[in-house]
Amino acid sequence: MNKNIVCIGAGYIGGPTMAVIAKMNPDRKVVVVDINERRIAAWNSPDFRLPIYEPGLEEVVREVRGRNLFFTTDIESAVRECDIVFVGVNTPTKMFGRGAGRASDLQYWEASARNIKRLANGDKIIVEKSTLPVRTAAAMDAILNYGDSPYRFTVLSNPEFLAEGTAIRDLLQPDRVLIGGPQDEAGQKAVAELVEVYAGQGDAWVPRGKILTTNVWSAELTKLAANAMLAQRVSSINAIAGLCEATGADVDEVARVVGADSRIGNKFLKAGPGFGGSCFKKDVLNLVYLCESFGLHTAAEYWNGVIKMNEHQQERIVSRMFKAMFNTLANKKVAMFGFAFKANTGDTRETPAAYVARLLNDEHVRLSITDPKALDNARLDLEGLDRIEYVEDPYVAAEDADAVLLMTDWKAYPDLDWSRIYSLMRKPAMVFDTRNCLDQAALKRLGFNVLAVGK
Ligand code: UDX
Ligand code: ADP
Repeated sequence: MNKNIVCIGAGYIGGPTMAVIAKMNPDRKVVVVDINERRIAAWNSPDFRLPIYEPGLEEVVREVRGRNLFFTTDIESAVRECDIVFVGVNTPTKMFGRGAGRASDLQYWEASARNIKRLANGDKIIVEKSTLPVRTAAAMDAILNYGDSPYRFTVLSNPEFLAEGTAIRDLLQPDRVLIGGPQDEAGQKAVAELVEVYAGQGDAWVPRGKILTTNVWSAELTKLAANAMLAQRVSSINAIAGLCEATGADVDEVARVVGADSRIGNKFLKAGPGFGGSCFKKDVLNLVYLCESFGLHTAAEYWNGVIKMNEHQQERIVSRMFKAMFNTLANKKVAMFGFAFKANTGDTRETPAAYVARLLNDEHVRLSITDPKALDNARLDLEGLDRIEYVEDPYVAAEDADAVLLMTDWKAYPDLDWSRIYSLMRKPAMVFDTRNCLDQAALKRLGFNVLAVGK
């Protein structure tokens, strides 16, 4: 008999992952629960105004919602009716007490575990999807299996590697799926059950060779290691970018040739405003905290350097603007093109744009922010700051601006009518392309002063 699935947490991870699990396992019932009623209502909205923007997500939800995918706030029935419980609740960086600013806040995870234990009416497989510090699964196992519960809970670690903006593609065709499980018989049986979910009905989904199994701690640490290494590449190329600016080298050329070495590879070598997103900073900080907890201070410092470099990159954007705009930014208007942490998402968690916006605000800049998907989040992120307006139309944002500061590599931006933008702006007009995605030579010909990262 095929096991039914519930996922606690209907966010960026839970929503898309369960939609694809339901699509590829039409013979299983998949229920997504959340305590946030508005979020669930949005997932259930008749006109598919889903709570997150992700290319291809709506099509999948249209196919499976009501067929074998359901969204609800009724945790009790959902947990009772299922055999496999995914936990995809948020685990933000802790802002208080021990490990503040570095460790993960596990209160939502623990609340979920206690709920599962309270509501369980049979054995369950618990799958950890949220990014968690190494050894959390052991703590969860202790909470769940403590006392004389008649039921057995087996905790697996199944880290998610999807990237926002390409989540559906990443889920449908993953490089690999990782499942960590206890090495005993019950653990291996649970791992085998989860392998079946990812293989899909009739083996139509992930090829079995790509479903990798490890022990629980390796799986937990792999997630942190993978994100830390990706973040490290971005910080490394950004560190080279500063040197390129100083010497006349071009970071895109350097990256192209460095990346042509098959030992290095060409991905994650794009210099820019620094990494954002919900995972990189949080996971690297987690790694730093772990290293420190085990007395590995030099390793902790090494990984912390990745974060420091990232912040430095954002500060450098503002200092370079400052210098290029005659050492005063007060009352000048800057049109910020893009606020999301990368293209194709409305997500603004840890977006470099927010940090840069705050630094510009400190300089009394008048900021006009435009973004095709992230304006609502931008308003929330920058609540309480003066001199900021939010506009849909980039041409309106550019009116009378002294500078355009491009922060997100939205595909539409290079195709804008830049001669029109030039004519709308105050002169001298500047463009700072922090993503190196515009035709900078053409902009210079139009009369713009152009700043770019690593050039
Ligand atoms: C990341 C991981 O890629 C994913 O596997 C994990 O599950 C979650 O964290 P995500 O944060 O969605 O995914 O986006 P990603 O595409 O990795 O980009 C992260 C940040 O790095 C973005 O701000 C992006 O603009 C930046 N970046 C990425 C660069 O600046 N240069 C690059 O070459 C690549
Ligand atoms: P992620 O990027 O990890 O998916 P999100 O913040 O997008 O993170 O989503 C996490 C979701 O988990 C939120 O919608 C939040 O309301 C939900 N959540 C947190 N704690 C609980 C809980 N105890 N029970 C059910 N849902 C929860």
